[in-house]
Amino acid sequence: MVLFQLWSQILNTHLQDLEAIRQQRIHHLNSMSGMGIDEAFISGLVEEFYTRVRGDERLGPIFDRVIGDNWEIHLTKMKSFWSTIILKSNTYSGKPVPAHQNLSGVRQGDFDHWLTLFSQTLNDLSSQPEVVEVFMSKARTMASRLESVTTLVAED
Ligand code: HEM
Repeated sequence: MVLFQLWSQILNTHLQDLEAIRQQRIHHLNSMSGMGIDEAFISGLVEEFYTRVRGDERLGPIFDRVIGDNWEIHLTKMKSFWSTIILKSNTYSGKPVPAHQNLSGVRQGDFDHWLTLFSQTLNDLSSQPEVVEVFMSKARTMASRLESVTTLVAED
């Protein structure tokens, strides 16, 4: 009997924790969607950003060398990456660090340039500074982490 009460208490606590997590997630999604950030916004952002990246004379060649004809796969991956970071959707299961460790031809300043291009894209898609900051704060942290594992070549 005592064992049963203990077991049911543990189960109850666990269910309450799960419910609290669910409520936090709903709250987070509501606050994001209140700013206009949802899956559709992320999809549009990723499409627009990588269209600009491909046309960028500094970054375009680096991406094209690795991605070649597989842009659809990369875009799908990047949508799930941002959806996981911003909307906590848990749909991304890749490994960004190894993907950048073996890149060749990345120059000093390329990560700053990536951040500038990302920020310009965000500013063009949203007139709300807080939307830009939601993405840029994550992007800056990731860029500095990824830059630290990438072999950078000097500017020519
Ligand atoms: C100079 C800056 C950057 C360059 C040149 C670059 C280049 C690339 C390339 C070529 C790939 C494809 C790798 C492959 O498929 O093997 C890739 C993947 C990826 N990049 Fe970057 N990247 C840069 C910055 C960033 C930043 C700042 C972020 C995050 C905010 C990021 C997030 C990712 C992610 C999540 C993937 C997918 C990794 C995977 O799961 O396979 N990248 N990047």
